[in-house]
This record gives sequence, C-alpha cells and structure tokens, in this order.
Amino acid sequence: MVVHVNLGPRSYAIVVESGALATVGSRLRALGVGARAALVSDAAILALYGKTVVASLEGAGLAVTTVEVPEGEAAKRLDVAARCWDALLDAGLDRGSTVLALGGGAVGDVAGFVAATYMRGVNFVQLPTTVLAQVDASIGGKTAIDHPKAKNLIGAFHQPRLVLCDPATARSLPQREFRSGLAEIVKHGIVLDAAYFAEVERDAPALLARDLGVLERIIGGSCRLKAAVVERDEQEAELRAVLNYGHTIGHALEAATGYARFAHGEAVALGIAAEARLARRLGLASDETVARQERLLAAVGLPIRDASLDAAAVLDAIRRDKKARDGRVPFVLAPAIGTFRLHYDVTAEDIRSVLDELRGSPG
Ligand SMILES: NC(=O)c1ccc[n+]([C@@H]2O[C@H](COP(=O)([O-])OP(=O)(O)OC[C@H]3O[C@@H](n4cnc5c(N)ncnc54)[C@H](O)[C@@H]3O)[C@@H](O)[C@H]2O)c1
Ligand SMILES: [Zn+2]
Repeated sequence: MVVHVNLGPRSYAIVVESGALATVGSRLRALGVGARAALVSDAAILALYGKTVVASLEGAGLAVTTVEVPEGEAAKRLDVAARCWDALLDAGLDRGSTVLALGGGAVGDVAGFVAATYMRGVNFVQLPTTVLAQVDASIGGKTAIDHPKAKNLIGAFHQPRLVLCDPATARSLPQREFRSGLAEIVKHGIVLDAAYFAEVERDAPALLARDLGVLERIIGGSCRLKAAVVERDEQEAELRAVLNYGHTIGHALEAATGYARFAHGEAVALGIAAEARLARRLGLASDETVARQERLLAAVGLPIRDASLDAAAVLDAIRRDKKARDGRVPFVLAPAIGTFRLHYDVTAEDIRSVLDELRGSPG
C-alpha cells in the first residue's frame, strides 16, 4: 500500500509493504538525492535490519555511513545529536545528502532533528521498525530531542522525503512493545474512522498473532488516517490535536509515575478509557461507545483499569501539560466511534471522577 501525504512542495509517499526495507536504495535514487547517505540507528536494530538497508543503499550506488545511537529515549539528547553532526561532517555529507532513521520513534526523532539542523536541513527518510513509529512517529515531520526539564522540548518540523514501512519488522518486537503500539491504532479508529475501528475489532486476534497480511493492512490503514490529519494541519494548529485522544490523561499518567511504570501505549489505553468516560460524563457519549473502546483495548492486551491509580498526582501532571492555554487543557472527546470534538471545559472534578472509576474492576 502506498499512502501519499500531500503537502505541496513537501509531499511524500508512505510505502507500507512487507520487504520494503530492501527497496530503499532504488527508491531513494528515484527521488534524485545526492550520492551520500547516513544511516542512523541503534545496535539492536542494526543487528536485525542494518545489513538489508546498507546493501540496498550501496546496491543503488550510494555511499553510506552508519551512525550508531543509544537505544530508546537515551538517543534523544543534545550530545547524541552533536555526535551525529560530527559523523555527517566527517563523511562529507552535503546539502543534497540524506539522513535515514532506521528504528523506533526515538531514533526517528533524533535523526530527524539532525536532518532538520545539519546545514539548515537535508533530505530525511524514515524507516520505522516499531508499530508506534510506523503508524505515528514517522509521519508528520515532528522531530525532537529531550530537555532535562521535559521530553520533546527542543525540535523542529522537518518532513521526510519518504517513509518506508516494513510491517515484517513488527514481528521481532518484544510483546509489550508491540502491544503498546496498538494503542495508537485503536486511537486512530476511535476518533477518525468507524469502519477502520470495526476492521481492527474483527481482526484483533490475527493482529495479535502478527499475521503479516493483517499487519500490512491495519498498519497501512492507520498511516492513511494519520497522513490525512497531517495534510489538513501540518504544523499542529488545531485539528492535529485530535491525535492527542487518550494522551492528555495518558501523558499525565506517564509523568505521574516517572515514565517507569507504564509503556506509552499502556498509559494511552488507560487515558482512552478515562477520556471515553469523560465524554459520557459530559453527556456526549453512550455507555456502548465507552464499552466498545474498552473492549477493543482489552482484546489487544492493553490495560483499562489500574487499582493503584493516583488521581491527585495525575491531576497535578495535567496542570503542568505544555498544551495548556490560559491554564486550561483542551480535551479531545469521542461522542461516537469515528467522531471527535475538542472540549475546553473539563473540570478537575470531572477528571477525578473518571479516574476513580478506573480503579474498579472491568465491567
Ligand atoms: N515525532 C512524533 O510525531 C512522535 C510521535 C509519537 C512518539 N514519538 C517518540 O517516539 C519515541 C518512542 O518510540 P518507540 O515506541 O518506537 O520506542 P523506541 O524508539 O524508544 O524503541 C524502543 C526499543 O525497541 C527496539 N526496537 C525497535 N524496533 C525493533 C524491532 N523491529 N524489533 C526489535 N526491537 C526493536 C529499540 O532498539 C529500542 O530498544 C518517544 O521518544 C516519543 O517521544 C514521536
Ligand atoms: Zn502516543
């Protein structure tokens, strides 16, 4: 499947195809980029997929330098970005050269930041290898490193020239990491597309079994949904906020638990359960709309209840949310599956009440 992201001169294709990594060289050549490239990745991912990518690039006549960064969030640091800049300079990359990110969202974010800043911006290609990176982080051009005071604080918008998404890579992910990425897929269905949501409901068992055909179709469908949002709101003015569904409370949960207790998608699943309940509490959504969201999250192995949830700590974290405007945090709410609405009038009492509900047992 090929999804086109139409952003005028910054348009690009997202190719979702089993075996796509082996085609990167010829596809890059077709874009007319220069002969030098830098492949940014971590040791674990390089061991799995590095050879395939390097062989494809070299086979197409490109000179490749591999730049290894630390695994996970540790890659998103200024000193790591600086080491990448040094490596690019040493390898003689110029304005026409290309930086490729092979890995999860962390590698994509730091490599994208390096591509956005090196010589005021060079070609960038995303080769996402986690579900989260495939359906979310690799699309839309947000790049960032972390600041000691907050995640993703330093960054730039820099759209990739190409996203090559090989769903087969999702099969080597640890189970928890794989499931965590599914939260974004469920999120896309809830707020953007009822038919897609129903498809994920139907295919949940095959998705969990990582059936290659189902992975390709579901991941491709999610890319299409995110791409459509990015097309309509490239720089996150308003509409793109829809992608924050489940994340206002989800991020607060992660922050309140020191980013240690929950995988991102686990916190988002709980955030979705809470925000689904907010919509019901405000009279926007039915019991069944809430129940369907929770059923699908549970079906893909994500948490929807947490007995030790600390409502006061979560509320505190929401108040510190960087998206707060005039002290109020906008909430994306889902009145029905496939629809959303922005809400600025959610009170602390509303939030406390739905968080209390999540401490109980499912049902
Ligand atoms: N730019 C955006 O729009 C955007 C959106 C969402 C999230 N993010 C960022 O993404 C990051 C999280 O990304 P993530 O969830 O992909 O995790 P990650 O990038 O931190 O990677 C997690 C781990 O998975 C391993 N891994 C990657 N692919 C693998 C594979 N195919 N098989 C086996 N192991 C593999 C990596 O080596 C790493 O240890 C966060 O930093 C977040 O801020 C960015
Ligand atoms: Zn997310």
